[in-house]
Amino acid sequence: MRFPVYFLLAYALSLSAPAAAFVHPGLLHTAADFARVRNKVNAQAEPWLTGFQKLTSNSHSAITYRARPQATVYRGLGSPENYSILYNDLAAAYALCLRWKITGDTTFADAAAAIINGWSSTLKTIGGTSDRFLAAGLYGYQFANAVEMLRTYAGWSSGDFAAAKSLLLNVFYPMNHDFLVNHNGARIDHYWSNWDLCNMCSALSIGVATDNATIFNEAIDYFYVGAGNGAINHTVWKLYPAEGLGQLQEAGRDQGHTTLSVGLLVAFAQMAYNQNVDLFAHDDNRILKGAEYAAKYNLGYDVPYTTYKNCDVTQTVVSNNSRGDMRPIWELPYNHYVKIKGLRAEFTAAYAEKVRSAGGGAEGGGGDYGPNSGGYDQLGYGTLMYSVQSHH
Ligand SMILES: *[C@@H]1O[C@H](CO)[C@@H](O)[C@H](O)[C@H]1NC(C)=O
Ligand SMILES: *[C@@H]1O[C@H](CO)[C@@H](O)[C@H](O)[C@H]1NC(C)=O
Ligand SMILES: *[C@@H]1O[C@H](CO)[C@@H](O)[C@H](O)[C@H]1NC(C)=O
Ligand SMILES: *[C@@H]1O[C@H](CO)[C@@H](O)[C@H](O)[C@H]1NC(C)=O
Repeated sequence: MRFPVYFLLAYALSLSAPAAAFVHPGLLHTAADFARVRNKVNAQAEPWLTGFQKLTSNSHSAITYRARPQATVYRGLGSPENYSILYNDLAAAYALCLRWKITGDTTFADAAAAIINGWSSTLKTIGGTSDRFLAAGLYGYQFANAVEMLRTYAGWSSGDFAAAKSLLLNVFYPMNHDFLVNHNGARIDHYWSNWDLCNMCSALSIGVATDNATIFNEAIDYFYVGAGNGAINHTVWKLYPAEGLGQLQEAGRDQGHTTLSVGLLVAFAQMAYNQNVDLFAHDDNRILKGAEYAAKYNLGYDVPYTTYKNCDVTQTVVSNNSRGDMRPIWELPYNHYVKIKGLRAEFTAAYAEKVRSAGGGAEGGGGDYGPNSGGYDQLGYGTLMYSVQSHH
């Protein structure tokens, strides 16, 4: 198997790098991002001001939010599901961390720390049907993102930080690793791309949060050459060079999961980028081609489609199920590709604008897109956190 040169370089550098080489904070947001957002909000500049108001008007960002940690989180039909408690608490931990980082008011950091500490000292098991692997992936990367911000808070004790890392390493990561290696005993093309992608996001972010290069590299390697549907060539599996589009693995299934895969892909790339590994650019911006494909179809345009087959299904047409799905996903790829890289991303830009407008001028976060898990699968607040310039 041949690897691109930049893959070998990134791989060699990260394998040989000491733990201290990780950038902190360095998951979805860096110190420079927080400085930019703080300055813009203080200057009452748009769209950051509206983005900040979106954050502060979400009840998850309230100082009075109280966590409800559980010893067992269960996801999947067949037993009372209680995983909504965890995703609500993690949306709150994230929102409170943002409020603290942007305002400097440590009462928000204390409230976020109380949520993370409560779960670190209580959660022992993530159970359920096969869906437990979705919980381990989605909530693992969200938990790690809160930890990565809190580690920069002087008021968070080293013992509490250690307990949070222990939960990530002993409860979340083993499930992420198991899923990426064994896929719950299923045939390799059985699980849809979002299952791999959320577990890749979790492993990557746990690698950074715990300063473990082995775990970080496991996730990066999987992106390049993994066997399952989360690997880049399987997720964005069919390229249409003339149109600059890439058909997504879940496009014939439904659009909620197709857009989720885009959301997880760009979160993965953003977290790697903040560790100086540029996956956005990989293979001539292959992620952008997938984002453009999903955005174009969901905005109401036709897209080319090639029959998709795996061990379970043959899908001959793109699925219109949940077409037009509104999730806070698009500011991240729009700002990265258009504003930072200077590339064209016509449909991603238009979809970012549509979701922004629907939110009153900014993407919201968990709780702004309904009570179900889909509204919490991505951390959101992208207008606030990813905008690098004013819109004119
Ligand atoms: C969460 O699920 C576990 C396992 O089913 C159960 O023991 C626990 O009581 C549940 N918690 C809540 C608040 O429902
Ligand atoms: C990193 O994680 C791997 C996999 O769990 C483990 O084997 C290794 O000991 C860890 N390395 C460090 C430095 O903690
Ligand atoms: C992925 O596809 C690209 C072409 O777009 C190809 O160059 C590369 O070798 C493929 N990678 C793997 C691991 O198959
Ligand atoms: C959705 O797709 C199905 C199957 O291809 C088709 O029969 C139906 O007309 C489509 N509905 C809309 C609203 O486009």
